[in-house]
Amino acid sequence: MKIEEIYALIEDDMASVNGCIQEKLRSEVVLIDQIGQYIVHSGGKRLRPVLHLLAANAFQYQGEEHIECATLIEFIHTATLLHDDVVDASELRRGQETANALFGNEASVLVGDFLYSRAFQMMVHLDQMRIMDILANATNTIAEGEVQQLLNVHDPDTTEARYLQVIHDKTAKLFESATQLAAVLSGQSSEVEESIAKYGMHLGTAFQLVDDILDYGDSSGDIGKNVGDDLAEGKPTLPLIYTMQKGNNEQKALIRDVIENGGRDRIAEVKTALADTGALKYTEQTARSEADKAIECLSVLPDTIYKEALHALAEFSVNRTY
Ligand code: IPE
Ligand code: IPE
Ligand code: MG
Ligand code: MG
Ligand code: MG
Repeated sequence: MKIEEIYALIEDDMASVNGCIQEKLRSEVVLIDQIGQYIVHSGGKRLRPVLHLLAANAFQYQGEEHIECATLIEFIHTATLLHDDVVDASELRRGQETANALFGNEASVLVGDFLYSRAFQMMVHLDQMRIMDILANATNTIAEGEVQQLLNVHDPDTTEARYLQVIHDKTAKLFESATQLAAVLSGQSSEVEESIAKYGMHLGTAFQLVDDILDYGDSSGDIGKNVGDDLAEGKPTLPLIYTMQKGNNEQKALIRDVIENGGRDRIAEVKTALADTGALKYTEQTARSEADKAIECLSVLPDTIYKEALHALAEFSVNRTY
């Protein structure tokens, strides 16, 4: 199934989500409106709402609350992006200047806070303790992941396990919540809920592994972000960690240096080392195995077109180029 076919399956729901995003974004404060519109209209894949809506449909959910739930999940995601681009000093996102580049760090952080707190207002409106519980934990975990990552930056001795914990926390957790909440809304058994939550978690892990590969890619064209940002800030992602483990002494020294000091100017050398040690291939295989685990978790779902779409999205998370 192609990605366009997946979006087509939930076209009406997605139109409602986009309407809800527009409505809930509104603020009397002009700068909030401006930045909110800027980031939301820049597009983005809307992957987390798509996962929530597909899972809700797979569970034959009959209500309307999945629209608000999908919207607030996208708000949380958007808030983390606003904050992330400040922390990472990134200048390009979704093919355009980042909000921090255009409006400044202060405005980006504060509007991120606005979106976070708007999401919490919406959660309260849904008035279900389980939903609040899951999302309060998820947002707390995301913050922990980002702070842990900050501690790993410039540390060449970061282990693969510590890296995996970071990507689980900062990225996979919100994917997990997106799919789990569909099960909660539609009143599934705890067994089914747990399985679809795990699907989201494994898919999100694969998604971040691939994000970290794409950062060593050739162009910022497809991904709409500048490549090389991770290396520039000395962020030990799996490709570097693997090369630290498997490389020869010269390669190890190179990676140690670029992690300790940041290494945008040595990117060509680093890419050669990653290729020679098979680090990108290893990272890809790790992503593949996470996607396979995600797909296994779908066995608890009835056979529907939505289940097929969820399967296809797990494939997309490893094969994507953007
Ligand atoms: C970017 O997420 C942040 C990561 C977790 C890698 P997406 O790639 O889903 O961003 P958009 O919303 O499509 O721009
Ligand atoms: C994902 O990590 C960040 C969040 C989950 C907020 P990255 O820092 O790699 O994301 P991009 O590459 O900037 O989108
Ligand atoms: Mg970033
Ligand atoms: Mg980041
Ligand atoms: Mg990245």
